[in-house]
Amino acid sequence: MASYQSGASGGGQGVAKAASDHQDDIEAMSPKRAAEELGRLAEVLAQANAGYYQADAPIMDDAEYDALKRRNAAIEAAFPDLKRADSPSDQVGAAPSEGFGKVRHTVRMLSLGNAFDDGDIIEFDKSIRSYLGLPRAAPLAYTAEPKIDGLSLSLRYEGGQLIQAATRGNGETGENVTANARTIADIPTELIGAPEVLEVRGEVYMSHADFAALNERQESAGGKPFANPRNAAAGSLRQLDAEITRKRPLKFFAYAWGELSQPLADTQLGAIERLRDLGFSTNELTQRCDGPDAMIAHYRMIEETRPHLGYDIDGVVYKVDDLGLQARLGFRSTTPRWAIAHKFPAELAWTELEKIEIQVGRTGALSPVARLKPVTVGGVVVSNATLHNEDYIAGRDAKGGEIRGGKDIREGDFVQVYRAGDVIPKVADVDLSKRPGNAVPFDFPQVCPECGSPAIREEGEAERGCTGGLICPAQAAEKLKHFVSRAAFDIEGLGAKKVEAFYGDPQLPVKEPADIFTLRERDAANLAKLANRDGWGQTSAKNLFDAIDEKRKIPLSRLIFGLGIRHVGEVAAQDLARHYGTWEAMARAIDTARPAALAHRAADEAAEAERRRADSEGRRARLAEARGKAVADCEVPEAASEAWAELIGTDGIGPVMALSLSDAFANPEERAAMDRLLPHLTPLPPEARADDSPVAGKTVVFTGTLEKMTRAEAKARAESLGAKVSGAVSAKTDLLVAGPGAGSKVKKAADLGVKTINEDGWLELIGQ
Ligand code: IVH
Repeated sequence: MASYQSGASGGGQGVAKAASDHQDDIEAMSPKRAAEELGRLAEVLAQANAGYYQADAPIMDDAEYDALKRRNAAIEAAFPDLKRADSPSDQVGAAPSEGFGKVRHTVRMLSLGNAFDDGDIIEFDKSIRSYLGLPRAAPLAYTAEPKIDGLSLSLRYEGGQLIQAATRGNGETGENVTANARTIADIPTELIGAPEVLEVRGEVYMSHADFAALNERQESAGGKPFANPRNAAAGSLRQLDAEITRKRPLKFFAYAWGELSQPLADTQLGAIERLRDLGFSTNELTQRCDGPDAMIAHYRMIEETRPHLGYDIDGVVYKVDDLGLQARLGFRSTTPRWAIAHKFPAELAWTELEKIEIQVGRTGALSPVARLKPVTVGGVVVSNATLHNEDYIAGRDAKGGEIRGGKDIREGDFVQVYRAGDVIPKVADVDLSKRPGNAVPFDFPQVCPECGSPAIREEGEAERGCTGGLICPAQAAEKLKHFVSRAAFDIEGLGAKKVEAFYGDPQLPVKEPADIFTLRERDAANLAKLANRDGWGQTSAKNLFDAIDEKRKIPLSRLIFGLGIRHVGEVAAQDLARHYGTWEAMARAIDTARPAALAHRAADEAAEAERRRADSEGRRARLAEARGKAVADCEVPEAASEAWAELIGTDGIGPVMALSLSDAFANPEERAAMDRLLPHLTPLPPEARADDSPVAGKTVVFTGTLEKMTRAEAKARAESLGAKVSGAVSAKTDLLVAGPGAGSKVKKAADLGVKTINEDGWLELIGQ
């Protein structure tokens, strides 16, 4: 931060002085006094920020400012419940070079599931009806509205005043862009008649006309033009200097909300109308539809209107209209069940494929990439596209059938490229009439191009994989990049490029995750310090080490995801963390289950061998027999069977993922790398989603017929209250909820002394 000058204007000194007059002891503070003091500090620091950032007229010096911020943080630490929504700890006010302040969203900002054709919309309606147990003929209304191609923003109003604006970020934490949002004409800074707390969510975008004019200005000033209106909007909102944002013609549509102290309406459409009445711009193509036919008709209408709208949209969003039903439907881990985005078809373009290169991913998969002559597809310049795997290049699908009429893809070919939303561009087709005479079929490598180890294609796998494991530098570097990625450790200042540089650094090598956490101490022991290198300085080196330290305490789910184990994505990592609670419990369970995992693999292999031998008659029985025999041949201790059953019984974890976990934990090199990493970390258990719920942390089993809700709804509801839902009764079950027609589970529960209640008892227990 540039310096707050000492001896600033008279009025300012008054504020600073008043601030330092209140130094009474924090420990002796009453909650009432602490709340007052936090309020006062928020006000003083906001004035200091405004003076510094907006008026260019600082009102206190750096030291005073820092002392006030520290005092504010100390009071917040002593009284965490009193931390204000507009807490200075979460505000801009950090040095511009350090970027924006962080904001933790009180209600997560989620993304939407995607639909690509009419059939998906019919499925969407069906799945909602089935979840809610609604018959086909029962009325069920939706809203349909354009999906704006911009970036989402959350605006928090308290007492009608705009107090904070935050970008989506990773959905949990975004960037504080309050000062910038205040410059957008569509965003009211004051509301009349709004609920006390109101978080309005919507999309910041730029119109085509404004985008063209901005690019013209950029270019005539010698600047680089933006690739498309979305990038221009994002670049303009994320300016550290709000005065630049003010000059950019940004617009905002409101379409959703986060925290509310009072409901806005009973329906989605009603809520949008209320937001419109409060002064927000809402999209006039928003309409209520009585079912899939009307939704699809509205989609077609919006698709036809699209070229004349004057701003980019990339699909239509459907939402269940009844907010009561939305609440019942709730959320999956990252998307609501009650909404879906119906995307417009991908845009296409033809270009020349100059070269096919092979990249080695973190799990060793060899992925072919097409290097293309740059071409604009849907407003974005594309020069690389994925070619998936060797079969795709050869014109075959996974089962040996033809794709693209069996046409293969060669270097020198003219290929059709498409982009669907944010997805990596793909090659769809090839124009044989333009194939050069000297083009030869692509010879897919049988050894890893990075480490020379054999690249093997396992039975039933689409990809060829490098067998080098962690000795393969590409795999190790990719694993590291994954480890620091946004959904994993997300270390500020340590992105993919820096990790790659550290990987090959002779003085300060980072070859595996544990090395990241010894960087500071290794640097201290080195004669040549990081701070003295090109591109580094005292501050940036210190910032990096501090950012690393910040991540020593890490949510268990991020740690599990960060390990980059094949098939274990973000959602599965969250499921595992929720189920096992601690690293030790999970590792113990995976280790204990190992013999059962191997038996499972043996059984799969035996069944596969039998499948190949067996004729169609009597096949099922023979397959089952082969599986059974294979399992019987492996001696599996009971504890292993139980641990395996629990692992694959964990919500979201299937046998393929469980086997992959088991393999990773049993692999000596990978395990040793984990064992070196863990001592540096404190994995944080998943936040119980509702501590006050009597079922939080309990394992619940549902059996028999439920009459007031579907099984899916019961399960999702229980999980949202922090319970684990299991399919089988065991000694670990805390509660069995049995409806009419329940069978053997009731007896097993009785034998094990597990409490059994009926559906009404359950509803009473969860307070419904
Ligand atoms: S509703 C809980 N409505 O699309 C879901 N989103 O792909 C709230 N978006 O992150 C989102 N137009 O940035 C909704 N009319 C619209 C939208 C819209 C654009 C964006 C939004 C979201 C992304 C998901």
